[in-house]
Amino acid sequence: MAGPGKTAELDNAGVAKAYARWAPIYDLVFGAVFDRGRKASIAAAERIGGRILEVGVGTGLSLSDYSWTNRLIGVDLSAPMLRRAKARVVEHRLTNVDGLAVMDAQHLGFQDAVFDVVVAQYVITAVPDPEATLDEFVRVIKSGGEIVLVNHLGAEQGPRAVYERWFAPLARRLGWQAEFRWDRLAQWAARHGGVQIVERRAMPPLGHFSLIRFAKA
Ligand SMILES: C[S@@+](CC[C@H](N)C(=O)[O-])C[C@H]1O[C@@H](n2cnc3c(N)ncnc32)[C@H](O)[C@@H]1O
Repeated sequence: MAGPGKTAELDNAGVAKAYARWAPIYDLVFGAVFDRGRKASIAAAERIGGRILEVGVGTGLSLSDYSWTNRLIGVDLSAPMLRRAKARVVEHRLTNVDGLAVMDAQHLGFQDAVFDVVVAQYVITAVPDPEATLDEFVRVIKSGGEIVLVNHLGAEQGPRAVYERWFAPLARRLGWQAEFRWDRLAQWAARHGGVQIVERRAMPPLGHFSLIRFAKA
């Protein structure tokens, strides 16, 4: 059910290149600033618990925050980002992490309905086709399971919308879409028919981010 959302300007090769450049400094630049969103999304995921897939796990900043009772798998498009996540798993002896693999969010190498929760922190605006990627998340979760996203959402109007439009070309080179708006997610859920939006909550920094939960019927 890929939607209108395919962003021609953003492609996986470009995104992988961008995150290969980010990898050495990622934790320094994006570690603390996104921490509250990561922690909130983990708390939301753990209300369901069980087998959790973290898509776009990056350098694994969130992995040590999950409870030991959950089983985790992390995937990411970027091998350099994932190498750091692997080092973190070893360093912190995270025995609840069952695997980390290079994988495209839109083409997950898992069978249908094998996870209780899919978590994607700051990822949905980094994929070329967010709607098709969300379809893929729905495919791998069990019914009653949830998708938990935390992400920047573009402003509908006003000075921030103008700034985001101006910043969009640079943002794409840095590896994400600055103008991705809430209505894309709401319209995807309405079209899909098999998911329900159960929560949308503003998150820091500046309330420009949101935590969003979808439940699979
Ligand atoms: C902004 S970073 C977020 C990393 C981590 N979730 C965090 O909270 O810091 C976006 C991550 O998504 C990954 N990513 C981008 N496109 C992807 C795709 N199509 N499939 C899997 N991972 C992808 C990037 O490589 C990067 O690690």
